[in-house]
Amino acid sequence: MLQRTAEYVLNKTGEIPDVAIVLGSGLSRLASEVDNIKRIPYVKIPGFLKSTAPGHAGELVFGQIDNKKVLLMNGRFHTYEGYTAADVAYPIRVFKKMGINRLVLTNAAGGIRTSFKPGELVFISDVINFSFRNPLIGPNDESQGPRFPDMSNSLSKSWTQKANYVIEESFGKPLETGIYVSVLGPSYETPAEIRMFRKLGADMIGMSTIHEVIVANHIKMDVIGISCITNMAAGILDQPLSEKEVLEAGKRVSERFISIVKTIVKETC
Ligand code: HPA
Repeated sequence: MLQRTAEYVLNKTGEIPDVAIVLGSGLSRLASEVDNIKRIPYVKIPGFLKSTAPGHAGELVFGQIDNKKVLLMNGRFHTYEGYTAADVAYPIRVFKKMGINRLVLTNAAGGIRTSFKPGELVFISDVINFSFRNPLIGPNDESQGPRFPDMSNSLSKSWTQKANYVIEESFGKPLETGIYVSVLGPSYETPAEIRMFRKLGADMIGMSTIHEVIVANHIKMDVIGISCITNMAAGILDQPLSEKEVLEAGKRVSERFISIVKTIVKETC
């Protein structure tokens, strides 16, 4: 099926994209800001799942940023929707099969580090898998990757550094970097859990990304990640968390997010 899915998408794009970019909650506007757009709805792609999460559209968008060809995943899958970790990460295997070796993962996250501000963009330097799921459970397909993949550079240090260097050049200031802890959700965390995660070394928290990172490492793709801090994590401020807050913060930061991602693609892909 993987081969069939990849062939279908490649047939639609006509070319091998230079990079695939997964768009997180509220960050979908980039999908209408690339040139020469071709839209590929998930429902038409053999072997693809449907996206049910709010703020997630459900289409691949092929287009150009400058002279670079990009494939945007507009709407991702989450384990809290009832999908397995392997299902959630299936598109990453499709991208690799198409010949794509570079992956940019973005997400909406709650800020655990108290100096973060809602609307801030942060490079993910490393991940903590607190989802109690793993997409590689079951028989290993050796043609895809090893049984026990190395995760010691799971988000590419060199690519992150290069990307942050061009961000500093273009915008005057680099992004902060932080450790992202992935949880299963869909309930937000309690204040006690957030205090625990802070002690464990996490800077931001969310319900996605980890399974895509694991699979990308299994199949040896280069990955970088950017979290959009949409809210302060539970208990930091004296206010409840809501999905509305998350989506609105994503929209507010859209313009900056778009120019930062465009700069990364132009200069480092
Ligand atoms: N917790 C978990 N996931 C999230 C959050 C949060 O505070 N904000 C956005 N995604």
